[in-house]
Amino acid sequence: MLTERAAALDAADPLAHIRDRFLLPDGVVYLDGNSLGALPAAVPAVVEDAVHRQWGTDLIRSWNGNGWWEAPLRTGDTLGRLIGAAPGQTVVGDSTSVQLFNTLLAAARMRPGARLLLTDPDHFPTDQYIADSVGRLLGLDVRRVPAREAAAVLAAEAGNVAVAAYAPVDYRTGELYDMAALTAAAHAAGALMHWDLCHAAGSLPVELDAIEADFAVGCGYKYLSGGPGAPAFAYVARRHQAGFDHPLTGWHGHTEPFAMSGTYAPGDGISRARISTPPLLSMLALEAALTAFDGVEMTAVRAKNLSLTGFFQDCADTLLDGLGFTMATPRDPERRGSQVALRHAEAYPLVAALTARGVIGDMRAPDLLRFGFNALYVTHADVLHAVQELHAVVTGGAHLAPAFQQRPTVT
Ligand SMILES: Cc1ncc(COP(=O)(O)O)c(C=O)c1O
Repeated sequence: MLTERAAALDAADPLAHIRDRFLLPDGVVYLDGNSLGALPAAVPAVVEDAVHRQWGTDLIRSWNGNGWWEAPLRTGDTLGRLIGAAPGQTVVGDSTSVQLFNTLLAAARMRPGARLLLTDPDHFPTDQYIADSVGRLLGLDVRRVPAREAAAVLAAEAGNVAVAAYAPVDYRTGELYDMAALTAAAHAAGALMHWDLCHAAGSLPVELDAIEADFAVGCGYKYLSGGPGAPAFAYVARRHQAGFDHPLTGWHGHTEPFAMSGTYAPGDGISRARISTPPLLSMLALEAALTAFDGVEMTAVRAKNLSLTGFFQDCADTLLDGLGFTMATPRDPERRGSQVALRHAEAYPLVAALTARGVIGDMRAPDLLRFGFNALYVTHADVLHAVQELHAVVTGGAHLAPAFQQRPTVT
């Protein structure tokens, strides 16, 4: 029954052919693209060319001759299509944490009278740490308010909140929040809205311009499949660019970087959000990776991701019932991102035993098994196989082996 359903869903999948744009190892079901996306087929040749021809032969001439100087804004514009950002508002380079520090502090500086910075107690740790640091630097009170309560707190604190810094998708449970509603609530309270799109970019039809988001950041290595350590992106809405007074005034954001002036004068538009020499090899890998989205509409990605996550939940209901699991991810499609998380007391050993059988997910302490679904390369047959393997592990006790009890550094 589930086998026939998986086959029918895969046969009707309009994105099925996109899987060929990825190089996936045989015998592996990869459900960790929400941590590190799989390798796009276009990447190896581009990296090879970047290393041997561009770096090895063309050397320093590549900055002009091979378009290295323009890469952060060129890649930003390409990526912008996936997050609803018209050209000229997205820059690529540095890590998510660096981009977050830069844009969050700049946003808070734009509301000098307001004393509060709201963020989520369940936000990814780096976001909470950086919010605290921004708070210390500017003397702001950082208040942790869960996403679902943020609109009410914004209304109660109207005029007092400088920035609300949230993520549309909870990185642990995959719960999805209403970006448009929270952005509107922030604006109604006179605050600016800052989004972390790490778990949304490339998996959901984000519409930054349409919802009038102010600032956003996100990584390149999850659903965008840009590779390990891929550079992150920052979005600065056009209306804020002239007043964008950011802390990391690196020389690449200068209006005339090669005038070598000792005084900072910001460049025009999004170019002032550039910081400094970017990791070019990784940047070019990300640019190549984004070609996997050529001709793909984010609405189609969303439809397939909902189908995959919903099917996973149905398979879990049927095959894992009574085996100690609880569903941490909302069943309502409106409230579900592109991952499913299951709670189980033996989460780590189960994920480790599953990985040893070729089904790769991950775990988040203390008890979550996380499975991420990238519509570009995951099939419904993969989903069923993953749940069947999990059933086999937990009923057969494979996870009780001593090898699966020791947690490595990265889980
Ligand atoms: C929501 C969110 N923000 C930030 C990060 C990581 O930041 P960085 O790319 O600087 O390591 C992650 C990583 O998983 C994340 O999930």
